[in-house]
Amino acid sequence: MVDKNDASNYRKVLEKRICKNKNIFDKYTSELRFITLDFKFLSYLRSILIFSEMKIDLTHINPFLEKDIVNELESRVPATYETIYKRTGAGNDFLGWVNLPSEIDENLLANIEKTAADLRKKSEIFVVVGIGGSYLGARAVIEALQNHFAPLAGEKPLIVYAGHNMSEDYLHDLLAVLDKKDYSLAVISKSGTTTEPAIAFRILKQHIINKYGEQEAASRIVAITDKAKGALKQLANVKGYKTYIVPDDVGGRFSVLTPVGLLPIAVAGIDIRALVKGAVEMEKQCKENQTVDNPVSQYAVVRQALYVQGLTNEIMVNYEPRLVYFSEWWKQLYGESHGKQHKGIFPASVTFSTDLHSMGQYIQDGLRNLFETVISVENSNYELRIPNESEDLDQLNYIAGKRISEVNHKAELGTVLAHEDGGVPNLRIVIPEVSACVLGELIYFFEMACAVSGYMLDVNPFDQPGVEAYKKNMFALLGKKGFEEQTAELNKRLGLC
Ligand code: PA5
Repeated sequence: MVDKNDASNYRKVLEKRICKNKNIFDKYTSELRFITLDFKFLSYLRSILIFSEMKIDLTHINPFLEKDIVNELESRVPATYETIYKRTGAGNDFLGWVNLPSEIDENLLANIEKTAADLRKKSEIFVVVGIGGSYLGARAVIEALQNHFAPLAGEKPLIVYAGHNMSEDYLHDLLAVLDKKDYSLAVISKSGTTTEPAIAFRILKQHIINKYGEQEAASRIVAITDKAKGALKQLANVKGYKTYIVPDDVGGRFSVLTPVGLLPIAVAGIDIRALVKGAVEMEKQCKENQTVDNPVSQYAVVRQALYVQGLTNEIMVNYEPRLVYFSEWWKQLYGESHGKQHKGIFPASVTFSTDLHSMGQYIQDGLRNLFETVISVENSNYELRIPNESEDLDQLNYIAGKRISEVNHKAELGTVLAHEDGGVPNLRIVIPEVSACVLGELIYFFEMACAVSGYMLDVNPFDQPGVEAYKKNMFALLGKKGFEEQTAELNKRLGLC
């Protein structure tokens, strides 16, 4: 047995064993937290084995699962992977994301990094213009990795978003800020015809031209769109904007690892290679293990089983506010992929412990039609301890000396147990930390699980026919050419004529 106080001795044991067995690394690193150690060395070890550390904890979900349903779903897992890898299922012309991480071209990465570096140099603000899959992936990664108070902490360039709403006040306030700042922008739309980003871009294009003149403005605009189709492509060609292509076979919500996500993420100063590396590793793990043991299969089977058992709402839970937009990205991925033919789990999200003081009551005690998927982060990036006070007027001395993350972690474990007792199954996805590499791993994990779950639900996970309904009505109400019949009918329904 190694003396835990002898850090250097312990380190040698670790060094020897780590090459042999990844599980030993897990065991020893958890013990290492209790001794003084060279943290640089520990970080180095983490960086080489980080991929093995994403774990699925089913302890608080197993009691709720009906065995027959799980068995039936598990028996479908190999065939479901075959459908994906052999491209025989519905929507198979949108499976470009499956091999995307490992096939990302080195030249493309270098090109994105170069463009990002140029834009960073001349921008205090970088505006990402896009909606749905054209901005949520980038925002998920950027907000997960930037300072929580980026605008106040003086982070440059500050990444802001437009074209994801049609609020006049929002755009007004943005323009007022941009009047006083140096900025550049990316306009992102695969179709090149989506109304929200098109409106925002028209306004921003005029603003940036007025501010810098046509030529300099053109050097501050990047268009990311389809290789040939759509108004944005034509516009970018005419104006000579730098352009990146969204591959035909990658749908918007699966496009974060294309220039759609990579360019804004690189402009934010985040290591896109680490992000891609994480995704490549998860891609490899999925390909090599198309069985029920794969964490992707476990997640997909469990959520589908609970759905069949009548739990139709899945709540993504995080205990780190930096993951709020990761949940937004996940909600779009799952909502748009599965909500069809009057089927599908409704994806929702909360941030605890904040929302334990709002949604917590419902989750604990309301209608029992939900389950939770918790993203559990093992390690914070920084250390902050609760100070001792001699008077102890606030009665907090019982936790004095503890790290805030330790308290947060106990809140998480306590909540998981309370919700389990309240009849809410809890699935935990445990990650070592929030880093670019781990996020890349998680992104691919959720993309593959989305495809597997979608096929188990028997829907096409790669289309979104329902999104068209509101657009048609909006165009009709705005009097767009070709919608005349609907205009009259809708105006009548709304009592407008
Ligand atoms: O996932 C999807 O396909 C959608 O959410 C799109 O990303 C979104 O509608 C934006 O489309 P576009 O990039 O064509 O402007």
